[in-house]
Amino acid sequence: MSWDVRPCASAKEQREAMSAIWHYFGRSAPRDDQMTSLASLMPAERMHGAWDGGRVVGGAGAFALQLTVPGGRVRTAGVSVVGVLPTHRRRGVLTAMMRAQLDAVRAQGEPVAYLWASEDRIYGRFGYGLASLTGEIDLARDRAGFYAGFEPFGRARLVPLVEAEPFVAPVWDRVAAETPGMFGRTPAWWQSRTLVDPDWRRGGGGELQCVVLEADGSPAAYALYRINLTFDRGVSTSTVVVVEAMGDSPRATQAVWRYLLDMDWVARVRGGLLPLDHPLLLLAAEPRQLRFGVRDGVWVRLVDVGAALSARTYAAAGSIVVDVTDGFCPWNAGRWRIGEGGAERTSAGPDLRCDVTALGAVYLGGFTWAQLARALRVEELRPGALARATALFRSDRAPWCPEIF
Ligand SMILES: CC(C)(COP(=O)(O)OP(=O)(O)OC[C@H]1O[C@@H](n2cnc3c(N)ncnc32)[C@H](O)[C@@H]1OP(=O)(O)O)[C@@H](O)C(=O)NCCC(=O)NCCS
Repeated sequence: MSWDVRPCASAKEQREAMSAIWHYFGRSAPRDDQMTSLASLMPAERMHGAWDGGRVVGGAGAFALQLTVPGGRVRTAGVSVVGVLPTHRRRGVLTAMMRAQLDAVRAQGEPVAYLWASEDRIYGRFGYGLASLTGEIDLARDRAGFYAGFEPFGRARLVPLVEAEPFVAPVWDRVAAETPGMFGRTPAWWQSRTLVDPDWRRGGGGELQCVVLEADGSPAAYALYRINLTFDRGVSTSTVVVVEAMGDSPRATQAVWRYLLDMDWVARVRGGLLPLDHPLLLLAAEPRQLRFGVRDGVWVRLVDVGAALSARTYAAAGSIVVDVTDGFCPWNAGRWRIGEGGAERTSAGPDLRCDVTALGAVYLGGFTWAQLARALRVEELRPGALARATALFRSDRAPWCPEIF
């Protein structure tokens, strides 16, 4: 069977192509406000559709993002709104769309694609590697003390969402600049995705609140959160749901979390999409009480191995030669010298051999080569090569992507 897979040529086609994933959201098409928001961030031609006899049966989109990698930034396709209607599942529609999308990403000059996977078995076959883990917390407010005393820092102020961008965007920018896995948010992104609070997003919970922490007259931290009010026989069982919280210094981060953990009339504090090295784990007097749970984070696909690996820096001198296999994007296959100066093709004898998914796993620093070896995901062809590769790719920070895009 064959499908007509191509980029959408109009807003109407884009809406049709998006309807495939919306089917799984329980609706036949995006709401108008959802469509307006998505269309403002993703031109129609960045959305691929699959048509069968004139009817859309699948869709796959990509945002043009700037992704932070260790020591730099790289143009990256943020893959999203992927779906195939149940009438056409398991007939290769997704495979055909991934083919068209990755070819288009390559043609656009974006060396990397990354995504959040709805299910972890979907994207490995297209060359995506698990690149980060993400954590969530759910703790009782009365067990939320810090191990040491807390010295107040800055001044907290509630800011209406419509006025929040000038306060929150600079903090995000500073944190994003040094955190692999984060991407740059444009004003359009802030306005149409982050600082909006449509009813359908609340899930029956409270309004989206924004607190900004200012120190020396400028914003140093912020949090977006909701209070979900519930009672049991008159006793509050309410929850603070932390949507996003960050500070541009350790003290600012500590202070914004103290604010969130100290909310009166609240029983529990919940939050997700946290990095594995989140400071709360060491700030907390009772870290176990965080009930820190872990799951897969973002998946990374090196679309142009040479350009992607040249966009990041390396933490040690020297280089390593890796023999890469890549079934879905064969242009990446072969030997690459990686290290000081980036990555270039070489005919030198290889030190390591791996699939492109392994490169995705180590790219942001979320996993090490030594970890890959223990999971039989890389072959050491020269003694000592794994240790050298691990040192080269070392990153001080766990990758963090605070938003499912
Ligand atoms: C995930 C989804 C897009 C797959 O589309 P599809 O057209 O059925 O995928 P394909 O037919 O191209 O599948 C290719 C291969 O991947 C496998 N595969 C696809 N989706 C899978 C899944 N969810 N779990 C396990 N394997 C899956 C298929 O079995 C097939 O393997 P095979 O070649 O060995 O037979 C579709 O099931 C869907 O829309 N799911 C609900 C929405 C969703 O999860 N979207 C992804 C958002 S990140």
